[in-house]
Amino acid sequence: MCGIVGYVGPGSTLDVLLGGLKRLEYRGYDSAGVSVIDQDAGLQTRKRAGKLSVLVEDLEESPITDAHIGIGHTRWATHGAPTDTNAHPHLGGEHLKLSLIHNGIIENFSELKTELQEAGVKFSSETDSEVAAHLVAREYEKTGDLTAAFRAVVNRLMGAFTLLCIHEDHKDLVLAARRNSPLVIGLGEGENFLGSDVAAFVAHTKRAVSVGQDQLVELRQDAVKVTTFSGEEVTPEEFTVDWDASAASKGGWPSFMAKEIADQPQAVGDTLMGRLASDGSVKLSEFAGLDRLSEVNRITIIACGTAAYAGEVAKYAIEKWAKIPTSVELAHEFRYRDPIIDEQTLVIAISQSGETMDTLMAVRYAKERGAKVLSICNTQGATLARESDATIYTHAGPEVAVASTKAFTAQITAGQLVALSLAWQRGAMDKDHLKELGLELLKLPRMVKQVLESVERMRELGKELKDAKSVLFLGRNVGFPIAMEGALKLKELAYIHAEGFAAGELKHGPIALIEPGQPVIVVVPSPNGEDSLHPKVVSNIQEIKARGAKVIAIAEEGDSAVGKSADEVFFVPQTHPFMAAQLAVLPLQIFALELASAKGLDVDQPRNLAKSVTVE
Ligand code: F6R
Repeated sequence: MCGIVGYVGPGSTLDVLLGGLKRLEYRGYDSAGVSVIDQDAGLQTRKRAGKLSVLVEDLEESPITDAHIGIGHTRWATHGAPTDTNAHPHLGGEHLKLSLIHNGIIENFSELKTELQEAGVKFSSETDSEVAAHLVAREYEKTGDLTAAFRAVVNRLMGAFTLLCIHEDHKDLVLAARRNSPLVIGLGEGENFLGSDVAAFVAHTKRAVSVGQDQLVELRQDAVKVTTFSGEEVTPEEFTVDWDASAASKGGWPSFMAKEIADQPQAVGDTLMGRLASDGSVKLSEFAGLDRLSEVNRITIIACGTAAYAGEVAKYAIEKWAKIPTSVELAHEFRYRDPIIDEQTLVIAISQSGETMDTLMAVRYAKERGAKVLSICNTQGATLARESDATIYTHAGPEVAVASTKAFTAQITAGQLVALSLAWQRGAMDKDHLKELGLELLKLPRMVKQVLESVERMRELGKELKDAKSVLFLGRNVGFPIAMEGALKLKELAYIHAEGFAAGELKHGPIALIEPGQPVIVVVPSPNGEDSLHPKVVSNIQEIKARGAKVIAIAEEGDSAVGKSADEVFFVPQTHPFMAAQLAVLPLQIFALELASAKGLDVDQPRNLAKSVTVE
């Protein structure tokens, strides 16, 4: 939540800042602002409530002088409504020469604010962040040492923060600090960058360094120094960003979401690449980071939202193939009870951003109790990857639309690779059978493409149902988390009531919601294979049809039974029942996208949401 960018170098600072903020806007979009320091004009700040475009237009109408150092912020409000004054940067000091931006929540801001007010400081905003600006400025006015002042203040703050700060007296220094919030450095030639994630600067450099917990950065045009909050110098590890800057642009699509849905054949293919041999055998070199894997007797998958639904699909595969008891835990619930976690527990944390605070806190909790942590993450340099024993990157590329699509199908794919690999290592299944499953997985990118080429009717249905008050989703087995995901996409994008249910639960209560005309989307399992739940789900369809529901079924090609009961059937290719998850979700994504677009809503930046939830 909140996007942060900083720059020092010979280029146009406003271009770097506004370009970076554009790519970080998914982190929050209720206000935006920039500060730059010009040699002659000094510190100049402009900030506006509303999306970044409001700030950009304002700067076009009444420009500020461009400069060679600056900071920029895009906000998701926590303390104080989204107004011009609450927007960042915040200024501090007697002559307002210091500018500061913040991502996170300063938990002890109220005591600090009282202390400052008692000393006569006047506040212009209702934010928690402004206290940090005043504190640093006052400390600096006492000592004349900006870095020492900044260090002293960050040591007093509690909670979660990434702070960036510049001061008019220092035209070659951006200070930054992080605790429990993300921060990455971009290393350029004669210029350097800071960002909430690499998307902020990937258009300028691919050399990056992720900043560790409780570390402070002094960023200059030709030097970067990282120290701990207590002052010891550290040598952070550099990595090369494998995202292409063009991947974070719409590339002619009407929205990022439309583009990211279309990216899925590649996202799934790139996640499989190098991990599955052509004979179907799986090799996850990432497992080398996990010692004593053979002793693991329980797996706990930790995630939030869409990532947790991907975890649910992984659970079916891990239990079936690797035969390890597995549970999925919502990260924010997990650590507030007494979960049973020990050295024989493998925690699998799933996160697109790798910065979700709830997931990070749950991982830390599990690590303290001796668990090994494997993460499935999409963002290089993310905190989650730093804090895990091993990381499997989903190579979905930057996901800019707030609602997750391609990261989800890539996460499911990574989960299936983990399940196959664990089964292989533990000898839980016959290797030839595992290779057959691997070969099926290899077919997925092509099947995903095929489904996306045939979604026209789903688009029409989205438009036709634009005035629906509520849509229900049903599924069983891996179809259940897919139903939940379909409902979540609709809530997020179209702001209409949507619920996903396990079809078997219907008669235990939810069937009371069915009335004539109620749209219900049913993810129907394959009719093939032993233990198929297909007949049971078809019976459920008949039960709701008898009560007047309008049923749209997502079914496997060749399923002749379902067409007799449902009003509409959307067919997906035949595959293994678990891998059908990546196919069945595609029409649901399209349905939500089209319905929301037909209502005239912004599908990339739905109201009240931010992509990366970096506060609890
Ligand atoms: C929904 C969505 C969210 C995220 C959740 C976790 O479309 O995107 O539910 O899945 O906030 O985010 P990450 O995966 O970044 O931890």
